[in-house]
Amino acid sequence: MRYVVIGNPIAHSKSPQIHAAFAAQFALAGFGYERLLAPLEDFDGTVRRFMAEGGRGCNVTVPFKEAAYELATHLTERAAAAGAVNTLKVQEDGTLLGDNTDGAGLVADLLRHTSLAGKRVLVLGAGGAARGVLLPLAGQQPAAILLANRTAAKAVDLAAQLQAHTKNVPLRGCGFAGIEGAFDVVINATSASLGGERVPLPARVFASGALAYDMMYGKGETAFLAQAREAGVTQRVDGLGMLVGQAAEAFRLWTGHTPDVTPVLEMMRAGLAA
Ligand SMILES: NC(=O)c1ccc[n+]([C@@H]2O[C@H](COP(=O)([O-])OP(=O)(O)OC[C@H]3O[C@@H](n4cnc5c(N)ncnc54)[C@H](OP(=O)(O)O)[C@@H]3O)[C@@H](O)[C@H]2O)c1
Repeated sequence: MRYVVIGNPIAHSKSPQIHAAFAAQFALAGFGYERLLAPLEDFDGTVRRFMAEGGRGCNVTVPFKEAAYELATHLTERAAAAGAVNTLKVQEDGTLLGDNTDGAGLVADLLRHTSLAGKRVLVLGAGGAARGVLLPLAGQQPAAILLANRTAAKAVDLAAQLQAHTKNVPLRGCGFAGIEGAFDVVINATSASLGGERVPLPARVFASGALAYDMMYGKGETAFLAQAREAGVTQRVDGLGMLVGQAAEAFRLWTGHTPDVTPVLEMMRAGLAA
């Protein structure tokens, strides 16, 4: 049973460690998971060669999630809505099923810390990560979701596209300057923290008792979580749990086993701190 994570670059990926820990929980003999670097211009060929050599599934990371969406023969509903695929599964008949497990990973991690039903949710960013999580978030029946992005038009367009699929949860898009009111859950899905940059947010964006979530994670506090701390937010969570959660969903899709995320998250957290 060979699996890989495909990206470019890929050397930094923590997925092999996570999947090895999941496989150990079920004593899955013969489960192998490695990193696979694909040339920027040959994602499809890399996947096809891997399949021809007996590969059973791949995780897909930057910059190939849209290419994987195009390559998949069939799509799950959440992958179709996301317009991006982070998990491919080779099916019995040799065709490729494309899934997107990022949103499920985020929601599972959020639910470890708070409920979402009836909450006011603000999502910052309108790139691939935001796109993949909006419908899974809406599935938790929050009171409303506001999507705010540096380039306002992208948020407005994305919200308009997905509004029909949010099961009556109001979803609106705007620029950062258009954010009004206070939110119970504020999720940073921008890549601003990657460059240590802050997102220009109005002072009272965090409601009393709010949770701040940064999809980014690292050894120290991210720029967004520092910003939330300075705004008085006490519940602050980084994206390591989302990473482990999306991997757990992929592992379940491939093997039929649902891994216990908690010990693996603890292991990864200890590794980051070391
Ligand atoms: N934890 C996990 O498992 C996980 C999974 C997926 C992604 N992520 C993280 O999520 C983040 C976004 O990833 P992505 O794939 O969505 O990236 P992406 O498609 O490149 O989108 C980037 C988004 O960030 C915004 N942005 C970039 N720099 C900014 C800045 N300085 N200030 C404000 N907004 C800025 C962009 O706004 P414009 O539209 O205006 O350019 C865009 O909305 C990354 O940090 C990534 O590491 C984490």
